[in-house]
Amino acid sequence: MFIRYKKNYEKIAMGLLSFMPEEKDVKKLQQTIKEYETNTDWHLFLWKEEDVLGAIGVRIENDINAVVQHITVNPSHRNSGIGKKMVEEIQNMYGDKYAVCANESTQQFLNKCTEDTQQNDEND
Ligand SMILES: CC(C)(COP(=O)(O)OP(=O)(O)OC[C@H]1O[C@@H](n2cnc3c(N)ncnc32)[C@H](O)[C@@H]1OP(=O)(O)O)[C@@H](O)C(=O)NCCC(=O)NCCS
Repeated sequence: MFIRYKKNYEKIAMGLLSFMPEEKDVKKLQQTIKEYETNTDWHLFLWKEEDVLGAIGVRIENDINAVVQHITVNPSHRNSGIGKKMVEEIQNMYGDKYAVCANESTQQFLNKCTEDTQQNDEND
């Protein structure tokens, strides 16, 4: 299930975000987490089962788009559907009010999710 990021999850959130190629630099990563803490247009969610296993971050742009700008899953728990589930949840939460879209950092995986959904629809 999703939990909204809070300061007490800072370490785990930073660890997860650091798997994104553009967040390898610690200074950049600290700026990113600060932005999620302070900017009301930046929303970070953690995927929690027994442990926190993933994170997805959205930025509201011009009150129109919900841009998925971070998506990351703990390497030991990849390929079991957590990434796709997080994208689905974001679509459910934001899809009525905003156009959910990717940026260049998340495009590849979001495209993959859309392709898989379309294929499932065709098979129904
Ligand atoms: C991308 C990521 C979040 C996927 O999480 P996950 O929980 O393993 O994803 P799921 O289990 O829901 O989906 C797995 C499928 O996505 C594919 N996939 C994994 N990473 C991908 C990527 N970067 N682009 C496109 N497809 C990708 C897998 O090959 C697999 O395909 P299959 O279902 O046809 O076998 C995870 O690999 C990750 O944390 N990567 C590092 C961070 C990163 O680079 N994020 C940006 C990605 S664009």
